[in-house]
Formats: sequence, C-alpha cells, structure tokens
Amino acid sequence: MRKEQQIEATSSRRDLLKYAGAGIATAALASRAGAQVAEEANTEPLTLTRKGIDKALNVVNIDLLQEAAAKNYSEGVRSFVFNGSGKQWTLNENQRAWGDYVFTPNRMNGIVRDKIDLSVELLGLKLPHPFIITPFGSHALHHPLGEVATMRGAAKSGGLAAVSSASSASMEDIAKASQAPKWFQIYLDPDEGRSRELLQRARAAGFKAIILTVDAIGQGSSDEYVRLGNPRPWLPYGNYGPGQSPKFKTDLSWKDIEMIRRVSGLPVVVKGITRPEDAVNAVKAGASVVQVSNHGGRALDGTPAAISALPAIADALHGEVPIILDSGIRRGTDVVKALALGARAVAIGRPVMYGLNLGGASGVDSVLSYFRRETVDTTLHCGVDAVSKLGAAHVRRA
Ligand SMILES: Cc1cc2nc3c(=O)[nH]c(=O)nc-3n(C[C@H](O)[C@H](O)[C@H](O)COP(=O)(O)O)c2cc1C
Repeated sequence: MRKEQQIEATSSRRDLLKYAGAGIATAALASRAGAQVAEEANTEPLTLTRKGIDKALNVVNIDLLQEAAAKNYSEGVRSFVFNGSGKQWTLNENQRAWGDYVFTPNRMNGIVRDKIDLSVELLGLKLPHPFIITPFGSHALHHPLGEVATMRGAAKSGGLAAVSSASSASMEDIAKASQAPKWFQIYLDPDEGRSRELLQRARAAGFKAIILTVDAIGQGSSDEYVRLGNPRPWLPYGNYGPGQSPKFKTDLSWKDIEMIRRVSGLPVVVKGITRPEDAVNAVKAGASVVQVSNHGGRALDGTPAAISALPAIADALHGEVPIILDSGIRRGTDVVKALALGARAVAIGRPVMYGLNLGGASGVDSVLSYFRRETVDTTLHCGVDAVSKLGAAHVRRA
C-alpha cells in the first residue's frame, strides 16, 4: 500500500486495542473518544497514568534508551517508528557514516568547560543550544499528551521545536503549549487551497518559519512493516477535520517555495536536500535555510547518509544561508561533527520520540540534556569555547 493510501486509512477502536501497546491504547482512546473510553482502557495493565508519565530519565546513550522504549511500544508502532524504508541501507548508513570522520583534538587552550557557549542564531532567533526537535507526525503514538508534552519538554531548555502538519494535536493547541519558538512543517497537499489554509493558520498561530519537506513523495515503509500488514494505529490528525488526513503532492517544484513565502509571509526551510545542486536551487527559489536530511532513512533507500552529503552542500552554499542537518544524530560527537562540517544546527528525531514515550515532557528534556552534556565535552576537546567556532580544523576524513 502506498503511503498516501495508508494515510487515508482509518482505524476502528478495536484496531487500536489490537495493535497498540497498553500506553498507546490509552493515548489513542483518550484523544478519540474522551474520558469514558479512557477509563475502560485503564482496566488494562497500564504503565501510564491518564495524563501520561512525566519523569526525568537517566540517558546513558540512545541505544539503551531505544531498548527501553522498545518494551513500551506494540510491534506495529515499533516497526513504524524504528525502521527505515526498504532494506534499510540508508537507515544503517546514517550510523556507519559518522566513522568516516574523526576529530583532531586540540588541547591546552585554557577553555573552561562550564563556560562553553552552545548558543546559535537561526532566522533571527538566538537559541540556547543547536538541537532542534525535528518535525514528526502523531506524537500521540508515543505519549497521551502528544505534541503538548513535547513542546513543554522543548521549552524547559528554551530550544526550538518543529511541528509536523501530521500532528495529533491541532497547531493552535501546540502553539499555546509553551512559549518556546516553533516552526511549522508542511506536507503540501495536491489541492493548493488546503495547503494555503494550513499556512495561514500557522502564521496566525505564531509559528516563526515554514519547513517544506520535499522527500516524502513515495513509499517510505520498511519490508518488515509491510510484512506485518501496515500495523500502526491511525490516530486522528489535529489539523484536519474528522476523517480527514494529510495528502502528499508529488509534483513539487521550486515554484512552491515562492507560494509558501507569499501565503505565509514567513521564511521557508527546505527539508530533505542531499544534493548540492538542489541546495543552490532552493536558495535561488527563496529558501532561507536548507535542511540536509534523508528523513531518518525513511524516504528513498540508497540515499547517502546526511553527514556524507553535508560537506559538498556546505561548499556549494558558501555560507549564504544556514544549514540544518538531521538523520542519525545519536551522540554529542555526531552533533559536533555536523557543526564542524558546516551545519549551523542539528535536528533530532527518534531519540526525542523515545524520551517522550518513556518520560513525557521531562523525558524530552532529559534527551536534550544528554546531547547538551556530550556536545559540551566534545567541544572542550576541540579546544574552542563556543560551538559557533567549530570548523574544518576540528574534524578530518578518517
Ligand atoms: C516516526 C517518524 C515520523 C516522522 N514524521 C515526519 C513528518 O511528519 N514530517 C517530516 O518532515 N519528517 C518526519 N519524519 C522525519 C524526521 O523529521 C527526521 O528527518 C528524522 O527523524 C531524523 O532522523 P533520526 O530519527 O535518525 O534523528 C519522521 C520520522 C519518524 C521516525
């Protein structure tokens, strides 16, 4: 089944109970049918309260966090979230490719660890750290409070969060969930009128930029997910009316960037770039930020790792616009390699999902704190007192 068709599918309450883990069932039912049904779901052996768990996590590394989260998800949700597309070559490459670059540590520079400055500037926002929560759909798959918990987690450190148009909560509710800055990610609809409406709502709700994701134009499921029969529960989408869901325009073109700018009046981030020529064309078409990404290995299998694509893109752009990198960030060392090779900031996906699932808003904050800790330590070893000073001197090809 193609993604567009899958996303059209709706699920019955029985499907939710059948496929979802206990916590997920509560999330789905609470948002679908209100308190009465949620009470009913609570007769199952739940690990979550009605509001959902909210606790700080001891994040040692993301592999261990994933192992813990794996026990919480149903098989269907796990294969949907963890996997990449096809035979998952790109998903695995997103991890392997970090080893293509090594540090050239630079000691004896008199740097005080606790004074290392993680702040970065993006589209006029002064951010306290370079970790952005990447846009991902249906946060209620992970936690009963969905995006509201994620935004509260992001706000604890004042970080930037991006919000998917395929969210569980409405963009208006998400905007109100915290004071922290937010960007809205759109999947353009074949019907431009529907896209325009979303863009106008995003502006009115106070989002500061629009992310256009350009790589979700075809099959993105893993073989395992297909073998299991497309088993994730289809939760309601907060930005759409009852029974409605996002649709994907496949005939995207550079003209769409101008339309988004005109309708929203906001700067545009183009997400899903892996080719230098496309990065240059995106900027010519009016993009204010380029996001190097292979959708966490969920778009075209066989696309290079994001970190492998970054150096040529940074060269081609000559610093004309900032670059964000996502796909495969699991450690502070990954963050520093990405920044040294030309990214201004990184966006983080699955680690945030696991933090949300295991600890709600506080869990999201714990994941960001883990990245903060490791990024500070790595920057210290590089011999600079600010991540904005990382560059070619700090990393070389292995
Ligand atoms: C379960 C899941 C849902 C996602 N949904 C969206 C989405 O709605 N919009 C989008 O632009 N990207 C989406 N992505 C891609 C992420 O924005 C990002 O590119 C990817 O997760 C980064 O890789 P990482 O998970 O290895 O950090 C999704 C990724 C996952 C794993």
